Amino acid sequence: MDAVSPPVVSQPVATRLTRAAIFLVLTLNPGRECERAVRALCADLSGLLRAVGFRDLEGGLSCVLGIGSDAWDRLFGAPRPKDLHPFREIRGVHHAVSTPGDLLFHIRATRMDLCFELATHIMARLEGAVSTADEVHGFGYFDDRDLIGFVDGTENPAGDEAVAATIIGEEDPGFAGGSYVVVQKYLHDLAAWNRLPVGEQEKIIGRRKLSDIELDDAEKPSYAHNALTSITENGEELQILRDNMPFGDVGKGEFGTYFIGYARSPRRIELMLDNMFIGQPPGNYDRLLDFSRAVTGSLFFVPSASFLDAVSPDAGPSPDTRLPEEEQAPRQPRRDGSLGIGSLRKGVTHE
Ligand code: HEM
Repeated sequence: MDAVSPPVVSQPVATRLTRAAIFLVLTLNPGRECERAVRALCADLSGLLRAVGFRDLEGGLSCVLGIGSDAWDRLFGAPRPKDLHPFREIRGVHHAVSTPGDLLFHIRATRMDLCFELATHIMARLEGAVSTADEVHGFGYFDDRDLIGFVDGTENPAGDEAVAATIIGEEDPGFAGGSYVVVQKYLHDLAAWNRLPVGEQEKIIGRRKLSDIELDDAEKPSYAHNALTSITENGEELQILRDNMPFGDVGKGEFGTYFIGYARSPRRIELMLDNMFIGQPPGNYDRLLDFSRAVTGSLFFVPSASFLDAVSPDAGPSPDTRLPEEEQAPRQPRRDGSLGIGSLRKGVTHE
């Protein structure tokens, strides 16, 4: 009888929305030791999470680790996830910048102290191996509103639909159970936004501000945010899972939304971004961007939890195919190499 492979377990991508989150974007410092430190953490992450999370099981602590395109080549080499590439900037009516990011830790819980504690342990483990590109502490704002005052997250898929929208299946069997994630940090010109009559704001978002009810088709302009981000292809709606969070610094006058979107293919999110920044048709762009500026933009692959658990600190790309250390930073071409662990194919389960 054939041995039965254990099912692949995904990272907790499709988890419920929480009231607190830390978004940690890191770059990997040059050097083999730095890569080794990250690989060692990959396998230990689930243990760290258990240790911190067990102190308050009601807190629902979770963590998703994403790996950027260049970092993937340095850490694992080939095979690589088929759709992994650096975030592509968009120069349309507005500019979607592409900014450095090798690792993303998306830490969520009902309480910020749990997020903070886990982030502290992660950074202690990676000391010297990484530099912080961006750290944002997000908070739930009233009834899941963003700082422009609208409820954010309503049309997210849930349950099986969320899994179908985010988790890779047969399209990339070696990486089944994985996902892709895009993050962008947006800063709002709140004063200008608040000068706009509520009726105009509602047209920009495509929903009522107080009740969160969607505008009728007759009322909703083609440039509404929810019109430009609703994409149907061959009769199928291309869904993504968002877990945006407000953040800010009152003293500095900084009011933001941290956009985070998961999908089984980055193309879904890229099509939405094209519609927002260039317009659909071109020129019919998202007016939200007249008030909200993207100051970061990065794309990551989210390997399955089974993949992370199986990473060995010493299993880097094969030595004959990797770049010399002095050529490592900041961007690298793809290289062939061996991962050193078997491909994870069989059934996929979700946390
Ligand atoms: C400043 C940044 C952003 C803000 C404040 C924002 C806010 C909102 C709000 C208030 C809604 C309506 C409620 C809901 O269904 O969640 C919405 C919907 C949505 N947004 Fe955004 N969003 C932002 C950026 C983005 C980006 C960058 C994307 C994709 C690349 C995106 C994709 C979507 C999608 C897919 C929907 C649901 C559309 C539907 O099916 O009705 N959003 N957003």
